[in-house]
Amino acid sequence: DWNMPDYIAEAVEAIRAQVGKEEVILGLSGGVDSSVAAALIHRAIGDQLTCVFVDHGLLRLNEGKMVMDMFAKNLGVKVIQVDASEQFMGKLAGVTDPEAKRKIIGAEFVEVFQREAGRLTNARWLAQGTIYPDVIESAGKGKKGAHTIKSHHNVGGLPETLNLKLLEPLRELFKDEVRELGVALGLPHDMVYRHPFPGPGLGVRILGEVKREYADLLRRADAIFIEELRNTAIPLPAELAEGREVGYFHKNWYDATSQAFAVFLPVKSVGVMGDGRTYEYVVALRAVQTQDFMTAHWAHLPHDLLGRVSNRIINEVRGINRVVYDISGKPPATIEWE
Ligand code: XMP
Repeated sequence: DWNMPDYIAEAVEAIRAQVGKEEVILGLSGGVDSSVAAALIHRAIGDQLTCVFVDHGLLRLNEGKMVMDMFAKNLGVKVIQVDASEQFMGKLAGVTDPEAKRKIIGAEFVEVFQREAGRLTNARWLAQGTIYPDVIESAGKGKKGAHTIKSHHNVGGLPETLNLKLLEPLRELFKDEVRELGVALGLPHDMVYRHPFPGPGLGVRILGEVKREYADLLRRADAIFIEELRNTAIPLPAELAEGREVGYFHKNWYDATSQAFAVFLPVKSVGVMGDGRTYEYVVALRAVQTQDFMTAHWAHLPHDLLGRVSNRIINEVRGINRVVYDISGKPPATIEWE
């Protein structure tokens, strides 16, 4: 049981005491943890914080704009946006193996971040959005491989090479506490309650070789899917609604799923459009419900919702003429396709 205003005041004091007049850099990913860390640290030390936002070209539609609007425009945080998509695409050309792609994306991410951070010669601290479950995982008590999966997310090894001290103001918080804190610090509710998004981004949602053309198609298909999930309300059965607080149940299919996204299949199939024959790519939709992401069920989305998403993707995204729905559980399938 915690009192949010008191908690923020204490956390702000602690950050001020820790860093004094020194400067701090933080890698913003667009994810919840780094965003909340940035908002909290900015509340404490204002312009002593500089954020670096690396766009690897594998982010969701309008992600860059969303991050810049939220931090630079609305909160007045100093953010350096780095468009590194050219560099990432170059390194990924011809690479099809999922783990090889992950390694490349992770290594490039560290390199780009390091280069940018190296320019901020006054920085003495590296801030990270490490939360309590990450601390536990890193201590080796988590699932096997969990640390390596997340390693580039929390840019491990950077403090040493950059000779920076580590600032981790969320180290003692659980995810739901981080979210509450984010809302209290003025971050938009929809942002703070987003589904998790993997560090390698669309890089592991484009099967096989990553190409900019594929990423552009996938981004648009994915955005349509997410928009429809958010806009589709789930009617509450009368017998359940009675006596419950309003909002006790999930209000829409986005909130009712743990993770949902589109996957690009670099396979062409035949279709018809108007008088013509098409021969275009396939997109798979994935939506799962899970407590811990170790096991997951595929979400039983309503058929009319799936139909609407499929129609919209095929009509609005030229280059995709077929949409399929993934009905595999984890295990034996994983949540991501790579
Ligand atoms: P899987 O596909 O293993 O995914 O069932 C379980 C959870 O982990 C996320 N995931 C990743 N997150 N880097 C990340 O930061 C990765 O390389 C990665 N691979 C999977 C996935 O999105 C899901 O939430």
